[in-house]
Amino acid sequence: MKTFKGRDIIDINDFSREELLYVLSEAKRFDPTFVKRDRSNYEIAQGKIAAVLFFEQSTRTEQSFRSASQKIGMGIIGFNDPESTSIHKGESFRDTIRIMNAYADVLIMRHPESGAAKEAAEVADIPVINAGDGPNQHPTQTMLDLYTIMKEAGKIDGIKVALMGDLKYGRTVHALSLALSQFKVKQIFISHPKLKMPEEFLKILKERRVEFEEFEKLPDDLDADFLYQTRVQKERFDDLKEYEKVKDLFVLGAPFRKYLDKGVKLMHPLPRVNEIDPALDSHENAIYFKQAKNGLYIREALLALVLGRL
Ligand code: CP
Repeated sequence: MKTFKGRDIIDINDFSREELLYVLSEAKRFDPTFVKRDRSNYEIAQGKIAAVLFFEQSTRTEQSFRSASQKIGMGIIGFNDPESTSIHKGESFRDTIRIMNAYADVLIMRHPESGAAKEAAEVADIPVINAGDGPNQHPTQTMLDLYTIMKEAGKIDGIKVALMGDLKYGRTVHALSLALSQFKVKQIFISHPKLKMPEEFLKILKERRVEFEEFEKLPDDLDADFLYQTRVQKERFDDLKEYEKVKDLFVLGAPFRKYLDKGVKLMHPLPRVNEIDPALDSHENAIYFKQAKNGLYIREALLALVLGRL
């Protein structure tokens, strides 16, 4: 296993099964479900600075990274409106990264363009954490999804996971599918043909001999431990008329309660728009808010790991 100290977190494919399991086990140190402590972790990264650079909107990822940084004692600098920075005056992306690199110990960046985090890592000599680069990757979301599955099922090997909704543009489902392919997990894809899982990902699953099935609608007799619902990514469509045609095809309303009653656990990376009826929120197997909270523990662990403080 490679050391995490000084490491960039850019692409979920950079992590072996063993490394993913290591991150999940380290996250337990920060999760009150597993560790009852009356002392905070405030001293772990005291004196270190996180630069939080959000070129695209976020609630969970930005705020949980801010919270995680402070919970382990870090200071925070950064922005979430690039127009408030000298980018507005024409400063380049690379120069912005060079400058923030000089002021911080780790860069946490979200950007609308695929490959932006990799480009930042080429410029920076401190760890860069990809907090989402366009439709490409969101590796810390994938790690928190795996952590949620592990926490809820007690294992990853041997389970069945259904991924539903926008499987074409959803970066979370692409990365989760790749990560799950390192485990013995049956994957079930449910989408409209126009939003199906891209062939490039299915090809990888075939090469890795992963068992998977594809459906065009939610099967009545869905045989899955988890259903991972997703938002149709309006912002990735070139033609909004195409978005209008597919946006409401996979909305989970009150009838979905029967699946929850049977034990299917419902996940969603959030934000949701209308694809899960809030009437389902109170069901014990609707676990998307718990999933979002788990992001805090994963991000505390990742920050401490890349800073060499665990
Ligand atoms: N899941 C997720 O990335 O949410 P935000 O866009 O609010 O960060």
